[in-house]
Amino acid sequence: MNIVANWSYPTAIKLGRGRIKELAEACKLLGLKKPLLVTDRGLASMAITAHALDVLHEAGLGRAVFSEVDPNPNEKNLEAGIKAYKDGGHDGVVAFGGGSGLDLGKLIAFMAGQTRPVWDFEDIGDWWTRADASKIAPIVAVPTTAGTGSEVGRAGVLTNSATHVKKIIFHPRMLPGVVICDPELTVGMPRVITAGTGMDAFAHCLEAYCSPFYHPMSAGIALEGMRLVKEFLPRAYKDGSDIEARTNMMSAAAMGAVAFQKGLGAIHSLSHPIGAIYNTHHGMTNAVVMPPVLRFNRTAIEEKIARAAAYLGISGGFDGFYDYVLSLRSDLGVPENLTAMGIAPDRVDELTAMAIEDPSCGGNPVPMTLENTKALFLECF
Ligand SMILES: NC(=O)c1ccc[n+]([C@@H]2O[C@H](COP(=O)([O-])OP(=O)(O)OC[C@H]3O[C@@H](n4cnc5c(N)ncnc54)[C@H](O)[C@@H]3O)[C@@H](O)[C@H]2O)c1
Ligand SMILES: [Fe+2]
Repeated sequence: MNIVANWSYPTAIKLGRGRIKELAEACKLLGLKKPLLVTDRGLASMAITAHALDVLHEAGLGRAVFSEVDPNPNEKNLEAGIKAYKDGGHDGVVAFGGGSGLDLGKLIAFMAGQTRPVWDFEDIGDWWTRADASKIAPIVAVPTTAGTGSEVGRAGVLTNSATHVKKIIFHPRMLPGVVICDPELTVGMPRVITAGTGMDAFAHCLEAYCSPFYHPMSAGIALEGMRLVKEFLPRAYKDGSDIEARTNMMSAAAMGAVAFQKGLGAIHSLSHPIGAIYNTHHGMTNAVVMPPVLRFNRTAIEEKIARAAAYLGISGGFDGFYDYVLSLRSDLGVPENLTAMGIAPDRVDELTAMAIEDPSCGGNPVPMTLENTKALFLECF
């Protein structure tokens, strides 16, 4: 089955195999004449990136690229990117990559015209109104992983390199104007990245679905997102060139990010400090802490999860769902716990303090305190 679609919710999404050839058109749609393609170091030397640059070049849009982007990008990457953007006289950004390249590309487009420091735009209250919205450059987003859903998100995650804290920088205009979801770009992902990013999409759907906030639209999207992961992630993992599975994982990733407007929870509030301190892969870390978090939340989510399990075709209510998560993890080679990930519990107090400060904490169905969160962390080792 060859899936092709044009959607405008939440933004214009062009989904389908080979649609990277529409990249120049997408740029022109947003009025770009001289885009800067932003990606990470690893992707910079890959054929998919060279091809995307060729498409731009052939349409007379140049082939400028900035790739000094670390996994879990930080403000130094951002400063260097803004400099490259200004020096090159660019008029917009092609954010190309996994969450790291996408987020940094979006942040460059957002920050290039601002005068205040980036930390002033953390996702707190109405801080985003501090920005001069007229100075935000247009963004075309091209995901090369299927996980974060950053391509349809209005925020970018930035790690403070001094404090190692991950901050969410938010502005509604950081939502890319056009998204190209071409599953062929994800075919070359190493298996471990397919697994980790896919589990990030699953974690977004699961946590959004379980959060106590009212957002039935997001809850519905989250449920169907989980179903797509259940059906297609094991297939994409087993055979990376299964385009139908890759396409559906791209949909699931975008759906997870749309759904988590409803909130995230302890999976993300634990995984953010672990990623910031130990530089672990975000989605894989989520997968590692997922079972202890499900147990932690059990009393508050038992009924909801039973409903989800019924929809997913899993029998046995909460327990059936829990067992399914364990078997999915083992099928995907997810480490058993944080110890198996190579992390020792010696900094658990620091991790706990950071988790409590993490914005995802507020969406957890069971309120998180220093005491219960430390106990939860210890369960993860
Ligand atoms: N903005 C958001 O809403 C949001 C949500 C979740 C996570 N994030 C952030 O996203 C980042 C993680 O993103 P990610 O999980 O996509 O990983 P990533 O972007 O860090 O990429 C992981 C690795 O995979 C490689 N890679 C990417 N695409 C590839 C491909 N097609 N073929 C071969 N290799 C490829 C990259 O070069 C990199 O080495 C974290 O910084 C996280 O905090 C953002
Ligand atoms: Fe995530």
